[in-house]
Amino acid sequence: MAAPITPCSSPSSSSSLAFPSEFNLCKPRNCCFSNWVSHVCPRIRTRTHFQIKTSNGHPLNAVSMQGGMDGSPLAKGINPEKEEDFFIDISDGEEAHSTLSITVVGASGDLAKKKIFPALFALYYEDWLPENFVIFGYARTKLTDEELRNMISRTLTCRIDKRANCEDKMEQFLKRCFYHSGEYSSEEHFAELDNKLKEKEAGKRSNRLFYLSIPPNIFVDVVRCASRKASSAKGWTRVIVEKPFGRDSESSAELTRCLKKYLTEEQIFRIDHYLGKELVENLSVLRFSNLVFEPLWSRNYIRNVQFIFSEDFGTEGRGGYFDNYGIIRDIMQNHLLQILALFAMETPVSLDAEDIRNEKVKVLRSMKPLELEDVIIGQYKGHNKGGRTYPGYTDDSTVPSNSITPTFAAAALFINNARWDGVPFLMKAGKALHRKRAEIRVQFRHVPGNLYKRNFGTDLDKATNELVLRVQPDEAIYLKINNKVPGLGMRLDRSDLNLLYRARYPREIPDAYERLLLDAIAGERRLFIRSDELDAAWSLFTPLLKELEAKKISPELYPYGSRGPVGAHYLAAKYNVRWGDLGGDDD
Ligand code: BG6
Repeated sequence: MAAPITPCSSPSSSSSLAFPSEFNLCKPRNCCFSNWVSHVCPRIRTRTHFQIKTSNGHPLNAVSMQGGMDGSPLAKGINPEKEEDFFIDISDGEEAHSTLSITVVGASGDLAKKKIFPALFALYYEDWLPENFVIFGYARTKLTDEELRNMISRTLTCRIDKRANCEDKMEQFLKRCFYHSGEYSSEEHFAELDNKLKEKEAGKRSNRLFYLSIPPNIFVDVVRCASRKASSAKGWTRVIVEKPFGRDSESSAELTRCLKKYLTEEQIFRIDHYLGKELVENLSVLRFSNLVFEPLWSRNYIRNVQFIFSEDFGTEGRGGYFDNYGIIRDIMQNHLLQILALFAMETPVSLDAEDIRNEKVKVLRSMKPLELEDVIIGQYKGHNKGGRTYPGYTDDSTVPSNSITPTFAAAALFINNARWDGVPFLMKAGKALHRKRAEIRVQFRHVPGNLYKRNFGTDLDKATNELVLRVQPDEAIYLKINNKVPGLGMRLDRSDLNLLYRARYPREIPDAYERLLLDAIAGERRLFIRSDELDAAWSLFTPLLKELEAKKISPELYPYGSRGPVGAHYLAAKYNVRWGDLGGDDD
């Protein structure tokens, strides 16, 4: 069992006023090409192509001067021959007088090593970090700065087409990394960290970002110590927290209450890394900047929507954590539900974080809480294939042998509003399945009075248009259409209009953590979860989770590496739906 969340009692109460107000890394006036331009600017102005940055600071490949499009700069009056015109100078002195200190709490953990440090390095490599920055690792393990550097250097990669100066960049980056060993609940140890930070910050205005890559039972202790002893005196202080944010409505509300004893809502960045994925970020662009999609985006034209997550490996090594949560809490209540909210929300007033999050909350609050009859659960069992033995979930030594924690779930959800009334939103998430995939599938209604009905025979589903957003791997957006097979006679088949990212955009797609870290540094909250969103998300799932646990519902077993339990098909069939990922031909 994972440790429970500690109540937020503390030696003496502290107010959120401990944190001074925030300011932006660079003044918007210095980096404005258009309304879409972010408040963060890359600090070095040596790139070879013109960039407009999206509202979270990332370049749009669409305006690259190097290829693909017509090459004409979008901003009027910009001369592509002059490099200075491509990058607007932000060096008005502010950057020189401020520093950014990032402290990764739980620095020796897996997430820190595999995701956070590599993402920070990628940002550094691409010149997204400000001139003055330091990174501190904080954990209980006793390590020297050098040992931390050795540890993280093993997971840093020169992923950006292995450019020549990567090794040098890595060395420079590692020189900015330091370590402080301390207890998570010791204010004294955080005061020591504060001293070290101050030393590096050398009297400059300091902005401090804490990344809590730690188990939830110590969130509050760390926040208390950091806010009291290591918050910035002159700049902003922000804290990124990773899920789990509780395990039901009550524990989540308690966690929020405790965090808010020490932080304001504006300082809390609740991360859901799926919101940082390229195709999830693109969902709103697709909907709101193309005339052809938005008019179809409702019950009038959409028959059902499917959110599918599968992994081809089990909980290996994470069984201890996972067993207390299960797949519904691990994937559905957050990652898939967040995508659903973005998919189904009404047009926001603007691209501002609050406007977008207001719309997401509205969708979540319009949803019908999940009922047991609309859910099926499964758990993987051991399996032998091709001479190899794959372990079952309960074979994991950190999992109780009688565990009934689901490693697979499928659910049908409904949004009770005018746009979506009656449309099933199906979710499916599972571990140890036959492949790794995350996708959104939109199945449209049949063509009324279809002239070509004869050509399809009785399988009307085959004639249905389907829009697929493949979030990973191999990002793609494709639309299944009916097409005439060329030649004499009239034969129809189903073809794809296919936007395959690797073919269209050769540039490597940044990891979700890069985008999210950059946003947190910029104070951009659009891709982070607000506390009312979190409450609404838990309200949908908590009654179901409690019922599953109270009734001790046993999951349907499925073999490791299979397509999951057959119950998922019955659930879909109940709503006259066929899962789109079972079509063959790589779907
Ligand atoms: C995490 C879950 O949030 O997301 C893991 O806790 C899961 O169980 C992971 O494996 C999947 O993330 P990604 O980015 O690899 O699809």
